[in-house]
Amino acid sequence: MTHGSPSLHRLAPAKVNLALHVVGQRADGYHLLESLVAFTRFGDRVSLMPAEATSLSATGPFASEVPLDSSNLILRAHDLLASAFPSQKLEPVLLSLEKNLPIASGIGGGSSDAAAASILLARHWGLQLTESDLAPLLLPLGADVPMCVAARPLIARGTGEELEYVRLPRLPMVLVNPGVPLATPPVFRALQKKDNAPLPPLSAFITTADVIGWLSETRNDLEAPAASLVPAINDVLAELRSESAGIARMSGSGATCFGIFLSDEEAERAATTIAERHPSWFVAATSTLASDEIVP
Ligand code: C5P
Repeated sequence: MTHGSPSLHRLAPAKVNLALHVVGQRADGYHLLESLVAFTRFGDRVSLMPAEATSLSATGPFASEVPLDSSNLILRAHDLLASAFPSQKLEPVLLSLEKNLPIASGIGGGSSDAAAASILLARHWGLQLTESDLAPLLLPLGADVPMCVAARPLIARGTGEELEYVRLPRLPMVLVNPGVPLATPPVFRALQKKDNAPLPPLSAFITTADVIGWLSETRNDLEAPAASLVPAINDVLAELRSESAGIARMSGSGATCFGIFLSDEEAERAATTIAERHPSWFVAATSTLASDEIVP
């Protein structure tokens, strides 16, 4: 390879819906949501290197489940950016994905990969795109992709494209998935009530306990419909609660659930115990990125 540019890397953090209220439905069937979202320092890793031809490869624990054809959100993001800048000469790139997040699991893996790859591509190609240009441009790839561009705590409204950044501290967290992939559309179809109460007004969040207190007044309205399709979600929540999580809840349309703990030590202890009891489950102790942290 004769290109001089170094390779670029970026974390594609897991997206966690700390609260998710379904407050309505649009005429086209899409649901209107209000969701408090944070991102974890655990996630996939996307890398980019100059190459003779554009390609995508995957490594990591969930690599074998990732499609590497044109349906992959990273390649779709590549093509979307390329078509938005038709007059620019855009060099081919080798894109690599370290797939650490389970697939179809409610923590935005594919969306976060697409957002991270777009940021790297925009940088590599020298496109003059800010975060706020990139987020709406990527909306056609999925309702969760715009929020993954900034990857800092926010409230998402509408179908997920209206973003309001909020102050949140770092939250010690355990992610648990029972090893059952769950597609989003059937979960929305199983949802009975679509006009639920909106999120309560935000308070000032200084400590983890402040966040847990506010979250206990909120819900994930998709949790019951998802658990009706994958009952193991209830087992995951019961395990997190038996390990004294301050709050235990499902993220997105599932099946991954999270527990928030008062300290990293408690989170690590809970993760170790749950992983020992359920060797086939995906379990990760991590913490969320606070509002003032930069995605590594
Ligand atoms: O946009 P995304 O690809 O994540 O959505 C997948 C599916 O989830 C949509 O086709 C739709 O059935 C459902 N969905 C919804 N309301 C949303 C987001 C997703 O009904 N706000």
